[in-house]
Amino acid sequence: MFAYLNGQFLPRSTATISVEDRGFVFGDGVYEVWRVVNGRLFETERHLARLQFGLSELRISLPEPLSLAGIEAIADRLLRESQLTAGEATFYMEITRGAAPRGHAFPAAGTPPTIYATVNRLVPAEELRARGASAITIPDIRWLRCDIKTVQLLPNVFAKQAAAERGCVDALMIRDGVVTESSHANVVGVLDGTVRTHPTNHLILPGITRAIVLDLARQAGVPVSEEPIAERDLSRLEELFLVGTTTDVMPLVRLNDRLVGDGKPGPIATRLVNEFRSYLDASCAPAHSGS
Ligand code: PDD
Repeated sequence: MFAYLNGQFLPRSTATISVEDRGFVFGDGVYEVWRVVNGRLFETERHLARLQFGLSELRISLPEPLSLAGIEAIADRLLRESQLTAGEATFYMEITRGAAPRGHAFPAAGTPPTIYATVNRLVPAEELRARGASAITIPDIRWLRCDIKTVQLLPNVFAKQAAAERGCVDALMIRDGVVTESSHANVVGVLDGTVRTHPTNHLILPGITRAIVLDLARQAGVPVSEEPIAERDLSRLEELFLVGTTTDVMPLVRLNDRLVGDGKPGPIATRLVNEFRSYLDASCAPAHSGS
């Protein structure tokens, strides 16, 4: 696999950063993950806008602003050199405040940020999607700026590890009696026929898949309410699913060892699984295919 590091393209195994990099020392950076289908980035602009928002919230300024064309050029070359122009992949980009002697306050003005990008093969979990997955709940112990996609992911790591140790795909995080999101996806439920999910504020990442899936639900005439799911209502949910860039729409059929609904992917989840997949494929189809 190839990587991009500060303007250079090189084999990932030879890409190295300073031990004083603030991403390494303080988790002082942001990242983004794009879905790639047949060599084409999905929702390039929305992910770029979220990355720019994160950079601005962290007050990291780049010598040259990240452009759509710049991102696409980096991704195209990495995908070609890594032979990932066919099938499913992800494009990862991380930007940190750069390398400087350790000190909590920002380093001297002019310290260049570190910009790293790479691509990976993605194998979507289609069998699990058809069957439905299991999850657990866990307290949300994260900071109060979950809307910024920072590389400080230790609570998310703990959440996913706790799920893995229980043989589950993910953990739904609970803060103040409501479901916020999962370790790496947004959480959507169906209660009394209405699609419910946490509103976008400082307590969740404003997921791009979430926004698309809510639009698809509205277009299908399903009522949507951005009102969080209370923990006490979890046992009453008719359906539950995860939505995210590497997750797509993943029905959950078991939560903390109890069945969700009848223990099979429900009709709304199944419809959104299919509609999201069609949307993804159409968006990433080559221009000449007529879409
Ligand atoms: N996860 N919430 C969290 C905490 C996330 O890390 C992610 C993304 C999402 C979903 O956002 P989006 O739909 O824009 O990917 C929500 C990374 C990309 C993942 O899929 O692993």
